[in-house]
Amino acid sequence: MKTLFAHRGMSSLAPENTLAAFSLCRQLGIQWIECDVDILADGTVVVSHDDTLDRCTDQSGNLAELTKADLNDIDAGSWFHDDFIGEPIPTFEQLITLVNQHELNINVEIKSCSAGWAMTDKLIANVITALAQLDTGRGLIVSSFNHLALAEFKCRRPQTSVACLFEAASLGDDWESVMQACGADYIHPEDQHLTQAMVARFKSAGYKINVYTVNDLARANQLFNWGVDGVFTDIAHRFPSKYKLRGK
Ligand code: G3P
Ligand code: MG
Repeated sequence: MKTLFAHRGMSSLAPENTLAAFSLCRQLGIQWIECDVDILADGTVVVSHDDTLDRCTDQSGNLAELTKADLNDIDAGSWFHDDFIGEPIPTFEQLITLVNQHELNINVEIKSCSAGWAMTDKLIANVITALAQLDTGRGLIVSSFNHLALAEFKCRRPQTSVACLFEAASLGDDWESVMQACGADYIHPEDQHLTQAMVARFKSAGYKINVYTVNDLARANQLFNWGVDGVFTDIAHRFPSKYKLRGK
């Protein structure tokens, strides 16, 4: 069974990385979600792709300068559509509650914290604390472009499967030593410039492969025929029913 990851939730139907975007998944038959996590000044882990508010909220500024109380005044939905006015930036704890309730599986992408290693260290620690609330039956993959942070996470929570993210430009000949250093089970390469030969190399080295971000059905089909295990997509709802929960 090939896996669709709803990238930042159903991010073409609802504002990305909000509970509204994630809560659409189950009803559309999508079993896996991808989210990005970062940290506020007070240690609160939040679900956000960017480390600033500027692109996806009604305000500007750095997440690293906010506390949990500030989230009450930030609207992460009105930029997208009137239906989502007042939708907040969720905490990671809130998302875990939703994942448990909707019986989803989750890929948590730890953002490369721009506030320095001390905060990155805290982000890892607080993600691990929050994950204790994830029901045992839920699927979990933790990934990062920051391979130092990912290796640190794996040391502290070895029972969790981890994935190294690679941009096309950073996927060098040393990719396998990076994977080994992280104890990675999965490789998450960028779609751009990914070839059948590269997929074959990853497979023959024993890794599972999930490719980001694939918003073209024919390209997803090609990747699956090459042996790719899953794709991250903003248009999971448009994929055929064979990729979804039965009856959706
Ligand atoms: O985890 C896959 C994908 O989300 C990585 O890129 O920038 O969308 O977080 P980005
Ligand atoms: Mg991501």
